[in-house]
This record gives sequence, C-alpha cells and structure tokens, in this order.
Amino acid sequence: MSNDEIEANERAYRRLLEDLFEARRRAWLGGSESARTRHRERNRLLVRERIELLLDEGSPFVELGELAGEGMYEGVAPGAGIVTGVGLIRERACMVIANDPTVKGGTYFGMTCRKHVRAQRFAMQHRLPCVTLVDSGGAFLPDQANIFPDDGLFGSIFRNQVEMSGRGIAQIAVVLGACTAGGAYIPALCDEVVIVRGKGFMFLGGPQLVKAATGEIVDAERLGGADMHSRVSGVTDHVADDDGHAMAIARQLVQELPPMRAPLRDRAPVREPARPVTDVYRIVSANPRKPTPAREILECLLDGGEMTEFKAEFGPTLITGFARIGGWQVGVLANDGVLFTECAAKATHFIDLCCKRDIPLLFLADVSGFMVGLEAEQGGIAKAGARFITAMSSARVPRFTIITGGSYGAGYLAMCGRAFRPNAMFMWPNGRAAIMGPEQAALTLAMVKRQNLEAQGLAWSDDEEEAFKAPIREQYETFAAARNFARHLWVDGILDPAETRPVMTLLLDLASRVPSEPTQFGVFRM
Ligand code: COA
Repeated sequence: MSNDEIEANERAYRRLLEDLFEARRRAWLGGSESARTRHRERNRLLVRERIELLLDEGSPFVELGELAGEGMYEGVAPGAGIVTGVGLIRERACMVIANDPTVKGGTYFGMTCRKHVRAQRFAMQHRLPCVTLVDSGGAFLPDQANIFPDDGLFGSIFRNQVEMSGRGIAQIAVVLGACTAGGAYIPALCDEVVIVRGKGFMFLGGPQLVKAATGEIVDAERLGGADMHSRVSGVTDHVADDDGHAMAIARQLVQELPPMRAPLRDRAPVREPARPVTDVYRIVSANPRKPTPAREILECLLDGGEMTEFKAEFGPTLITGFARIGGWQVGVLANDGVLFTECAAKATHFIDLCCKRDIPLLFLADVSGFMVGLEAEQGGIAKAGARFITAMSSARVPRFTIITGGSYGAGYLAMCGRAFRPNAMFMWPNGRAAIMGPEQAALTLAMVKRQNLEAQGLAWSDDEEEAFKAPIREQYETFAAARNFARHLWVDGILDPAETRPVMTLLLDLASRVPSEPTQFGVFRM
C-alpha cells in the first residue's frame, strides 16, 4: 500500500470515528436542554450522574445499545430514553438499567423495551445482578403496537425479571421519580426496592388518572410516595433522602449479595499486540470494495499479535486459530476472502475443538458470502456450509461477533450473526451487513427486470437500467451501515477498533465466570 493510500484510509476512518463520537455525545446528553434544566431544578441528578455515583470510581461501563433508536422518534436522542450497560459496583460486575426521565418522562418506546430486554438477556446469560434505576412514566402511549402485544416487548421485561429472580440473579430497583403503570411494576417485581423520599413515587395510575377513573382526589405523596410505600403498603424496602443517598444504598445492597464467582478459565499475563490497534485505521481501505488483509488486523488485536493457527494451509480464506485477548484464550475465526467448502469444513472442525476444550469463540466477520458456481455446488458447499452453521449454532461455549468489514448473506449468518444469539455482537464503524452488497443487489434486481421486459418484447436501455439500479444501491448502502444496525439494535453497539480489546477483555472475563452448558451438535449431514 502506498503512503498516500494509507493516509487516505486513515483520514476516512477518522471521519467515521468523528461521526460516531458525535452520535455518542448526543446519546450522552439525553433529553433537550430545557428538560435537563427542569430536571436539575427539581434537585435530581441526570441519569449519567446517577450511574457514575452507582459504579465504583474508575469502573468501566460497557454500554449495550448506546445508539439504539437513533433518528427513530422525533426529538429523541440516540439511546431511546434508557441507558443499559455493565459496570462494577463494589467490585462486582452488574447490569445497570437506567431510565432517562429527561426523554419523554422516561417512557418506553418500542426500542426502549427491546433495549431493556436485550440488557436483561445479557444479564441472564452472564448471571449479572440487575440494578434498575427507575424513573419512568411507563409506556409511551402512541407507540403501543411496538410496546404492548408481542414477546420481546414490555411484558418480557417482567417475565425476565421473574425468571432471573427465580434463578437467583439479584434484581434491585431504585425508584427515583414518578413511576407509573409499567414503570411501577418494574420495581414491584424486583427482589429489593429503594425509594427516594419526596422524589420517588410508584403507582399503577397517577393522581390525575385516579381522579378521572374513580373521582377520588389524592396527591402523589399519599398515593405512592416513599412513606406510604415503606410504612403502609410495604411495596418498598429502603428509603433514601436523595438520589446520591439512593445510589449509596444500592451499592450497599450489592455488597450484601453472594460474591461474584471466580473465573473458570485461566488467564495469562496480558501482552500488547504486535502493532498499535490504531493501525486498523490505516489498514482498512477507504474504498469499501477493497478487501482488508485479515492477518494485519489480527496483529493489531491479539495479545502479542500471535495466534497458533489451525489448518493454515487449508481453506486459507478463513483464518482459524487459538489466541489470547487481554490474557483470555479465544478461538478466532476471521474471514480473509470468500468462504469455500474447505473453509466451512475447517470451521466445523475448529468449532468442535473449541467446544471440547471450552474455549470461547470470536468471529471476526468480513465476508462477501459463500462461493457460488458449478464447482462449488458439486463440491457440496451447501452441506459443508450447513455443517459450519450447525457447529456454530450448537456451540455452547461463549461466542462473540465483531463485524470488522462487509458481512453479507449466509456468510453474515455463519459468522455467528445476531439470529444465533452470540453473547455480544459489535460492529466497527466501517462495518456493513446485508443480504448482499449494494452492487450485487442492484444487478440481481436489474437482471430480473430485464428478463421480464424481454419476455414482453420490450427494450430497456443502459441509461434506464442505471436509473433503476442507482436507488437500489443507495438503499442497500443505507441499510448496511453500522449506524443503521446500531439504531435497530441488530448489534449491541459500534466499537472504535481501539475499544475492541478492553471491551473483549471485560466480556471474556464475565463469560469465564459462568460454566458452559454441554454442547449437543445437531446432525452433521455427510
Ligand atoms: N406517553 C406518551 N408521552 C408521555 C407519557 C406517556 N405515557 N408520559 C409523558 N409523556 C411525554 C409528555 O407529553 C412530555 O412530552 P414533551 O416533552 O413532548 O412535552 C414528556 O413526556 C415529559 O412529560 P412531562 O409531564 O412534561 O414531564 P414530567 O417530568 O413533569 O412528568 C411523568 C413525567 C412521566 C411523571 C408524567 O408525564 C406522567 O405522569 N405521565 C403519564 C404517565 C402514565 O400515566 N403512564 C401510563 C402508561 S400505561
């Protein structure tokens, strides 16, 4: 690569990062300035300030769905009015789920429900206590179709709370504002509830609704304040004087939980990669059609830049091998070109090895798909691909996916796409994913149209074809973008490549504290 090319790549990558950081800044702010000012004037802390007090000083905070809902709801910042992430409380990893009352009163949109549920699923899988900072008016009423009726929405929040509590995964709630309807049931379904005197309220229907429904006139304090719930109804268990005090009580409650399980896997001393991770910005081409050399990426990510490669000579467009990140062992599968039958066979063998040895899998996805054509079909690529998917899907070791480039079609799925429920899934800012690439989609649809027109004896000029293809390309590019995947919560977030090692180190640590279930593979057809 020429120096000019390297510089152009880096400039392009830094622009992507700037866009990402700008979106994160908006997510961080949450509600409008006036909503934040009003909130502060009520002597209440903003959601990020609450989280900061809740977590240990200097604790990492790995957010899930930071940009979920971006641009989906008018006037609503990225994040969908809720903050979810993993951090340390009294040195114990916890899932923090916190409503942002400055965003439409902390009410739940469809995406807010999905984000809450996603955070719970992560917590359940890693047996993390959930500390929920509740400050929510319940459902955002105009969005009821995306909140109310289906599995995976508001009702699933309750279901998951009950299931986790039943499995001994602690559920602690702090009621910090007026929590209405669903917003009241969330703390009511927790194991232990803290409420802030004079600020926190819980009721199934607020004073106005009560008046409208029954004619009864009662103020918020009597209907659902801290004194009433702590002395009369018994709904809450601990009373705090203010937000800060409530965070201190929540920290104390976490301290009283059984200790975090010790890691079940060995951790080697951490070694820095062979190359600075920021070299990724230079390696990834500014031209998305140009493939990224996967081995160079691995040098920037793995401890010592080293890997004990498995079957290096066989199916070389899929790199497989044993490596470490942050001292934790991982079985890496990294694309370095299209997937051939040999790659699929090698992946199956490698995944089986990792399952037998209880080694977590890390999929680095950058793949245009499986090879097509007569030779590939005769070579049985369909059954080899099916075996790969069977192995990947059955594997009960922890699995992590990072989309480091373009990840398309069945290749996206085989590299542990979202449907296969990896423990966590992230995308780099340059990441893209779709059924196929924009050019291929435009070509395929144009081919179908041309055949139809020709069957009717109609002509189609090159210019007409191009005019047909251009919007398809554009639509596919918009769809495939990392930001689009993040806003829909099709990935847990977008990582700056420089964040990949610390995030993976934390995730591998969490996963190491949960015993893997035995893997039972589906039928491997011959
Ligand atoms: N659905 C849709 N929008 C809602 C809402 C709901 N359930 N609750 C609040 N909002 C909106 C408000 O219209 C307002 O929108 P705006 O910023 O565009 O003006 C914004 O959220 C903030 O509400 P506001 O009442 O100004 O803020 P607040 O901090 O004084 O009070 C609540 C917040 C949540 C306590 C209060 O709005 C409330 O009691 N809402 C009704 C809750 C309810 O009955 N929910 C039942 C759901 S089943």
